[in-house]
Parts: sequence; structure tokens; C-alpha cells
Amino acid sequence: MKKNKLIAGNWKMNGSFGANQRLMDEILTGIEARKPACEIAVCVPFPYLVQVQDYQDRSRDDSGEPMLHLGAQDVSAHKAGAYTGEVSASMLRELNVAYAIVGHSERRQYHFESDALVAEKAQQALAAGITPIVCVGETLAEHEAGQTESVVKRQLAAVIHTNGHCISEIVLAYEPVWAIGTGQTATPEQAQAVHAVLRAQLKAATEHADRVKILYGGSMNAANAASLLGQPDIDGGLIGGASLKAPDFLTIIAAASV
Ligand code: 13P
Repeated sequence: MKKNKLIAGNWKMNGSFGANQRLMDEILTGIEARKPACEIAVCVPFPYLVQVQDYQDRSRDDSGEPMLHLGAQDVSAHKAGAYTGEVSASMLRELNVAYAIVGHSERRQYHFESDALVAEKAQQALAAGITPIVCVGETLAEHEAGQTESVVKRQLAAVIHTNGHCISEIVLAYEPVWAIGTGQTATPEQAQAVHAVLRAQLKAATEHADRVKILYGGSMNAANAASLLGQPDIDGGLIGGASLKAPDFLTIIAAASV
């Protein structure tokens, strides 16, 4: 069976109540009009989860399922306790959060998150019934040194090691760091090659590897989405800048719905 693609927006540290309302009103209107045949999520800063939860509730289709899912951009690796500033998976679950990004390269880079920590965050999310969107990807230096495959395999291996057979419940996102926010996208062939490597690694870990959605992220936009999403192992996109512009985000959603 052909699986639905997933288009997930990552707002990063952007937004305000007013701007979010304008953006989400336009996105919801577009989704209601077109009833796209893909899954949609928006991963928003913590203070805006409640605001966007309302849009998730309002987006229900005829069967009562939300067409738009709420996502967070991070989750704690700990269950509860003395971890000032952290937000636990069970807290997110109370807000009906469906997805949580873990291991985004900006967190690996600026907050020194290790492969092991990212794996524990994925584990906490899964235990609370939240789907982790696990990000992997090589830096420009690693790319130029020909280390792409070894880097993404090492990052995924940690998540497999910690999560065992539950690995089939994650969403994986390949985000080459050199393509994030740079306008320099991996070519569809480049991205497909890495996705195939990741799929093979998942296959060695679970018989349900084909169920796992592998998203591409890194300067995906309205113009290049269709060619990237046309690749056999690209099951969706994790969209930064273009997710902040409703027409662009809706165009990408349409490209994922063919
Ligand atoms: P851009 O789409 O802005 O390159 O960001 C990609 C990304 O990091 C999504 O998580």
C-alpha cells in the first residue's frame, strides 16, 4: 500500500500570536478547500502550542481525524524532575502534541546534543505516544570529506540501539546541514541516495522499515518540492523557511498529495 507523505513545518524560533493567527488561518482555509491526501504537521515554539492546538481541533475531516497535526521542536530526555527549562513528553501529550522534532542540527550544534541524548529524547517521546521526528545529517565539512554515509548511519544507529523494535514508530528526517537555510538544496538524486542508505539500515533493524517515513529537509520550497518528493524513498519534507509562508507551504502540501 502506498503510504501518505508527511509535510511538517518547522517554524524554528519565529512567530507571534498575531503572525501565527494570520499564517494558520490561511493554511487551514487552504487545507479545508483542498483536502490534501498527505499528512500535515506544524512544529511550533512551546509558547504557541496551545494557540495552534486550536487549529488542530478545528481541522477535523469528515471522519473526525485532524488534517493538521501539532508538533513541538524538542522534548526532554527525562521523564520529570529537577530539570529547569525542560519540557517533558507527558506535558506535550497533555496538549495533544502528535510529533516532536528531536536532534535537529541546530540543537546538535548550539546545544551540543549527542547522538545518545537524541536517542533518549526519541525514547521519551515514543513512551508518551508522540512520534519523534529524528533528524540526521552531515555538516558541510563532513560532506566535502565524503563522510555523509558514515555520519548519518552513526546518528541513526544510536536511535536504533536505544529504541529497538520501536524504531518502526519513528519518523526520520535527513537534513544535510549545508542545505539548511542556505537555499542550496541537495539534488533529488543526492537526497534519494542517502535515503536509500537509511532505509537499508532500518531494514536491518526492523521488518517494518517500509512503514517509516523518511523526510527530506534543507531549503525545500514551492519550486523544488515536487522533484524531491518524486523520489522513491523520500516520504515527505521537513520545511523551515517556506513553512512560514502559507502559499508556499500549501504548494508543497499539494506537491505531496499527487
Ligand atoms: P529550511 O527549509 O529553512 O532550509 O530549514 C530546514 C530545516 O532545518 C527544517 O527543520
